[in-house]
Amino acid sequence: MRTQWFGTRAPSRAVAHCAVGMGVLPVVFAAAVLPAAAADTRSPGNPPVQAQEDQSYGQAKKNGLRTVVPDDFYIGTAAAGGGHHLNAGYPDPFTYDKTYRKILSAEFNSVSPENQMKWDFIHPEPGVYNFGPADAIVDFAEANGQAVRGHTLLWHSQLAPWVTQGDYTDAELRQILKDHIQTVVGHYKGRIQQWDVANEIFSDPWNGPIALRQENPFIQRLGPGIIADAFHWAHEADPEAKLFLNDYAVEDMGGKSDYYYELAKQLLADGVPLHGFAFQAHLDLQYPFPSTLDDNMKRFEELGLETAITELDVRFTLPESGVPTAEQLAEQADTYQGVLEACLSVEDCNSFTIWGFNDKYSWVPGFFPSQGAATVMFEDYERKPAYYALRETLAQASQD
Ligand code: G3I
Repeated sequence: MRTQWFGTRAPSRAVAHCAVGMGVLPVVFAAAVLPAAAADTRSPGNPPVQAQEDQSYGQAKKNGLRTVVPDDFYIGTAAAGGGHHLNAGYPDPFTYDKTYRKILSAEFNSVSPENQMKWDFIHPEPGVYNFGPADAIVDFAEANGQAVRGHTLLWHSQLAPWVTQGDYTDAELRQILKDHIQTVVGHYKGRIQQWDVANEIFSDPWNGPIALRQENPFIQRLGPGIIADAFHWAHEADPEAKLFLNDYAVEDMGGKSDYYYELAKQLLADGVPLHGFAFQAHLDLQYPFPSTLDDNMKRFEELGLETAITELDVRFTLPESGVPTAEQLAEQADTYQGVLEACLSVEDCNSFTIWGFNDKYSWVPGFFPSQGAATVMFEDYERKPAYYALRETLAQASQD
């Protein structure tokens, strides 16, 4: 039975769910009644940021999410850097934010480079590879006993301009993709647990009939067969890595997920080394919870595939104050918990990744200006009900 995470948290953050032992007891304690919330997500009554961050790290070390996961289960997060961070006015989080790195190591046993393995970042010019930032993440992961999810190879977005603006024959374009995949996957051979080989290759159902994305130049120029080629090339370069399809808006049965289901069946029938189907799960509280997610995961697993949750965050429209209401935080917690429960309900979903863990570094506000607060911690790393919902659910699964 899912705990209903009713908070009474007005802008004063009046409710906290504290981890008590292995379980979590909803503890409601009256924080100081504070004036109307500050314009940002830190209420005036909070301790100074550094004190809050230190307290947060202390909590993570003692009983972080990774301390309560079931055996062989990976609770992961995106490792923040590149992408939208480049223009955010702060230094690269993974590289320079000490508190971020400490909590990243204490809370999670899996990491996904948020942008550092994407084409525009890692292969900016022909024959020029920028492996440094992703190497640092993989080294960090190994030093902290964390698995790594490689993200991503065949994608229409964040391609380097030399690829999209070049004048290549089909054969040259195919060789460019093969060289990229085999160089990047080969560089990390034996160090990546799962690769998102093909990312977001079907179009969005709200943009018309669903089809393979024609914005993807490799698919558009070389045809659907390039998908199988990408998986074969990745598998040749690293036979140990598990190779996944990955997309958003595929959580419920129907729509795009049906197209992936048919594609997965065909790829498997053709002997393509496809090992898993991944649900990004970028969710928005204005839409209903994807209530068929568990059944959807089950049908992919019945094909013999693993499944994974790879990019979960739960956004919503913020009040004028910028501080989420208690009801929003409770619904957000319930949503995080529901996705984790769906993953835990199937046999081969052993990797559950959230797309960032504190609101300060989330991609959401930049893409959805009126929305935000999509992660499990506030900007100062204070944990939200969603964090405790994940922790309680993982702890319960470990005891079952
Ligand atoms: O490359 C341009 C650069 O030329 C330009 O000067 C600059 C101006 O702002 O933008 C740069 O593009 C940035 C891009 O990352 C590539 O670095 C965008 O601003 C930036 O918003 C974008 O953000 C990343 C986004 O993927 C790109 O789609 C986010 O950091 C990252 O969290 C997000 O992650 C994706 C997953 O990879 C796939 N699933 C969806 C998820 C959320 O979009």
